[in-house]
Amino acid sequence: MKNFKVIVVDPVHPSLIINLKKKKLLVKYAPGINYDKLSKIIKNFHVIILRSGITLDKKLIQKAKSLNVIARAGVGMDNIDLQEAKKNKIKCFNVPSQSNLSVAEHAFGLIFSAARKINLCDRLLRKNIWKKEEMYGFELSNKKLGIIGLGNIGKQIANIGKKFNMKILASVNNFNIERKKKLKKNNINLTSLNNLLRNSDFVTISVPFNEKTKNLINAKNLKLLKKDSILVNISRGGVVNEDSLYNSLIKKSFFAAATDVFKQEKKNNKLFKLNNIVVTSHIGAMTYEAQKRIAIVLEKKLLILLKKF
Ligand code: MLT
Repeated sequence: MKNFKVIVVDPVHPSLIINLKKKKLLVKYAPGINYDKLSKIIKNFHVIILRSGITLDKKLIQKAKSLNVIARAGVGMDNIDLQEAKKNKIKCFNVPSQSNLSVAEHAFGLIFSAARKINLCDRLLRKNIWKKEEMYGFELSNKKLGIIGLGNIGKQIANIGKKFNMKILASVNNFNIERKKKLKKNNINLTSLNNLLRNSDFVTISVPFNEKTKNLINAKNLKLLKKDSILVNISRGGVVNEDSLYNSLIKKSFFAAATDVFKQEKKNNKLFKLNNIVVTSHIGAMTYEAQKRIAIVLEKKLLILLKKF
């Protein structure tokens, strides 16, 4: 195999770097490298390994004159201009499924934090502010959990919800009677998005980002949420309209929100100013277990692909 030059622009499991080097690939590990720096050096690399930290847009791909492979160490390919990559004969692949459990567990971390105001309480206590009465929250058990998007992650969320005896509602893109019957046997009730929003105590969002799901949750349907409900987004920032979310939270039209994702990552956001939202920095898949599994699958796929060049 020729000495391919690989750049890794997001945090990956250390075993991936070690193993690729053992295979004589020339690896530059640059997690967190910014767009401008990358655009100056991308022409030198045959392979780029990324997660969600960089947007590989048309301009960047056009500069990547030596690039053979784009490897997405995770699920979403929405930060890659796949059309431009294809035009430039660059092979692209992702590593789905390996982080489902971690992301689903993170959704519950966010649910608990929002429902019991754990993050808020922590923040105040560090300032030596002891609050109790203001910390009223909600139990999860026996409540209704509405899952928007029942792919691999949504199914994991349903499984965890059932462990808390939650009643599961779900809304999906491909709705049909057969699927509805099948899911019903698994105690998952398929319903419309509006119905789900109207009836759920907790709502989680686990859909891919595309033209259909852009602003899926917006000013109009945020109004449907119950007064005491909690909305959790672990999909992509653009799926929930951030201005509408901000306005609803300011008005306290529902209990709280939590989000792991933002329309623009690594940027300040007016949502950060609000106490009734829990925010995390796109860390759903950031577990040792998930990243180790991703590293194993990515290495295998990449080495097979590189043999073709
Ligand atoms: C993914 O699409 O797998 C997630 O965004 C996780 C990540 O890469 O951080």
